[in-house]
Amino acid sequence: MKSMLAPTEAMGIYQMLYAFMEASGKYMGEPGTHPWSQGFPLTTQLPGGPKLPETISVKSSDLTYPKAWGHLSLRESIANYYNHFYKSNLAPENVMIFAGGRAALFAAVFLLAKDVRVVIEETEYTPYYDLLRILNRDPVIVPSNEKNNFLPSAQDYAACAPKTPHFRIRSNPCNPTGQVLRGEKLKEYVQACSQPGVGALLDEAYEFFVDPEPVSALQYIENIDETNIFVAGAATKGLQAPGIRLGWIVASRENVEILGNYSTFVMGGVSRVSQIYGEELLQTARVTQAREAVASFYTKQRNRYGAALQEMGLQLFSGEGGFYHWCKLPGSLKADEYNERLFKREAAILPGRLCDMHRRGSSSPLQEFFRFSFGPLKADSFEEDVKILKSALC
Ligand SMILES: Cc1ncc(COP(=O)(O)O)c(C=O)c1O
Repeated sequence: MKSMLAPTEAMGIYQMLYAFMEASGKYMGEPGTHPWSQGFPLTTQLPGGPKLPETISVKSSDLTYPKAWGHLSLRESIANYYNHFYKSNLAPENVMIFAGGRAALFAAVFLLAKDVRVVIEETEYTPYYDLLRILNRDPVIVPSNEKNNFLPSAQDYAACAPKTPHFRIRSNPCNPTGQVLRGEKLKEYVQACSQPGVGALLDEAYEFFVDPEPVSALQYIENIDETNIFVAGAATKGLQAPGIRLGWIVASRENVEILGNYSTFVMGGVSRVSQIYGEELLQTARVTQAREAVASFYTKQRNRYGAALQEMGLQLFSGEGGFYHWCKLPGSLKADEYNERLFKREAAILPGRLCDMHRRGSSSPLQEFFRFSFGPLKADSFEEDVKILKSALC
């Protein structure tokens, strides 16, 4: 019987996963495969980093329904985390807990008032496109391409800004480019988004993955209660725990109250077990060590893969954040064709056209671009990775 659901495709990164499975009969990420198309971090202890907790204690009281907004102790841990590292002055009432980063992003965009226009950069995190499409949002798209080195300026934003209420969405560091908005430019961005009629979602999934140290907009937000700024975080990348599905949004008390009300009829709260694990991850001494180890390990990986990719003749547009390189193929080689060659070697990259918020398919200017992920790679896979990447170029 024909499905009564609206046809819905998997988002781009999963499309690649399935295409790879079809071509190779293997699940990307299983031993022997080279998961350069995937955005997961190592889930093992990093050099100089803390151990990942192996046990947690769960009491019968933890088996009751969780609070719609998240447990107070976890909300406190998250508020304290930002206050400690970024000198913000958050209260637990500024924090809303979700089952992972994407659940948080979905809620914020879903609840956005209908007369608020979304503004998004041209080159962005693949599922933003799906999210905006399914929620019938017609975004204003800010150029982010070779011309501005994939880092739109305040002028680029000003040139596109609607006169009516609008809401910017951006990942920082950016997935796929690794470009980072920081320092004075981030401060200016926050100020621009704190004006009446302007709001923003800053997706900081890769907060820890910055050379030389983590970056958060919360450093520059004076009083979040007076803004429509939403800062999204998750245990997925920096805390190395994608499996616990824990994410959060930091926003004004009023906005967090609305998100919590949404939770009462959509989520019913988030697994208490995950919240307990998340609290362990965020203990101050542990998270201090984790931030340093993540930034240091991944900076080394970024640098050595960057040098090797350039040596192969690829042009790099990568920033100093995230765990991706943003590469342009030489000549007229398209990323899809390069991928076909890689599939035969049990490897895959993410074609750049899937990060095009205009989704121009075969006419996308990102056809020759691809995202190379070094997130899941152990330090000792480097030589073999380089050999495969090189052999598929010829
Ligand atoms: C920019 C960005 N935001 C959010 C997420 C989503 O994280 P989660 O897996 O917790 O939904 C990711 C994961 O790849 C990401 O790259």
